[in-house]
Amino acid sequence: MFFSGRHRRTLTMTRAALVLGLVAAAAGSCFLMPSAPGAHAAPRRAQAEQLRQERVESSNSWAAPLLSLGAALGLVFSVVAAPAKAITAEQFSQLTYNQVRGSGLANRCPTVESNGSEVPVKAGSKLINVCFEPKSFAVEIDTDNGKEFATTKLTTRQTYTLAFVEGNLDPNPITFKEQDGMDFAATTVKLPDGEYVPFLFTVKELVAKGEGSSFKPGFTWGGEFSVPSYRTGGFLDPKARGMNLGYDQVVGLPAMQADGKSGQDEIFKETNKVFDVGRGAIEMEVNKVNQELGEIGGVFVSKQPSDTDMGAKEPKTVLLKGIFYGKVVNA
Ligand SMILES: *[C@@H]1O[C@H](CO)[C@@H](O)[C@H](O)[C@H]1NC(C)=O
Repeated sequence: MFFSGRHRRTLTMTRAALVLGLVAAAAGSCFLMPSAPGAHAAPRRAQAEQLRQERVESSNSWAAPLLSLGAALGLVFSVVAAPAKAITAEQFSQLTYNQVRGSGLANRCPTVESNGSEVPVKAGSKLINVCFEPKSFAVEIDTDNGKEFATTKLTTRQTYTLAFVEGNLDPNPITFKEQDGMDFAATTVKLPDGEYVPFLFTVKELVAKGEGSSFKPGFTWGGEFSVPSYRTGGFLDPKARGMNLGYDQVVGLPAMQADGKSGQDEIFKETNKVFDVGRGAIEMEVNKVNQELGEIGGVFVSKQPSDTDMGAKEPKTVLLKGIFYGKVVNA
């Protein structure tokens, strides 16, 4: 490359404040995205309640004519409208490709049916089939009241869940080291002002720890992970510039030749493509275990940087809340 500047940058997220977010996630309050939990909780709750009400009202006003139309045409409305049902890993394993295809089920994490009180972890165990399904996506934005997390609209189709993630698991403290699986998913959400925020949803190289030697309901654990660049070295921008491929600069841009002039920084950043590696953090709480099958399930809250357009933009902070699943196998 012509420019021998940064090739990697590290963008760090800390685990602080995620634990509090976890409580909100556990309570299922997906509309609430407190940046400073507690501070404005009451008005926000009222707002969220109003939002929920409006949603119910608007969905009812849609549903009524559709229902009568469906009845008139003799359609089975529920087939179209029914959300994907909760489904266990065992039920998943019995589905054929054609049953899963186009159903949205491939984007669902398995649920856990309670059995027993705890899943013990022995030295040299593995955690397999780990799945992370986000249920809400918030992005930190600047407002008149400082930084706040804004609720976003998901624009990615049903392809954003991480699945079949696995790694070693050891007790005292329980330590999971992520190694393999479908551990990243390119995802895009839309802010209220219409801005799109792409990010690579991931838990790559996660090291999650929690006190103890067995999973049981209420067990909390978490850790940090790496967030690779949303785009890879082979990416070419609309002017065919790239990191490993393509042009080094756009010759037609006169400002690039004007030395020492202001406004060059932005052009330089667009031109000098870098593979940013960020850091994210996740907190999880187990709420169901199946002792017989070694399964655990619960909720997670995760914070990670968004896309930087290969070094050209400052990353935004993305806050995800959702559910996870995993299966403990002892060696
Ligand atoms: C767990 O499942 C096994 C097999 O189905 C059953 O025999 C056992 O009673 C269950 N234990 C509990 C506590 O539900």
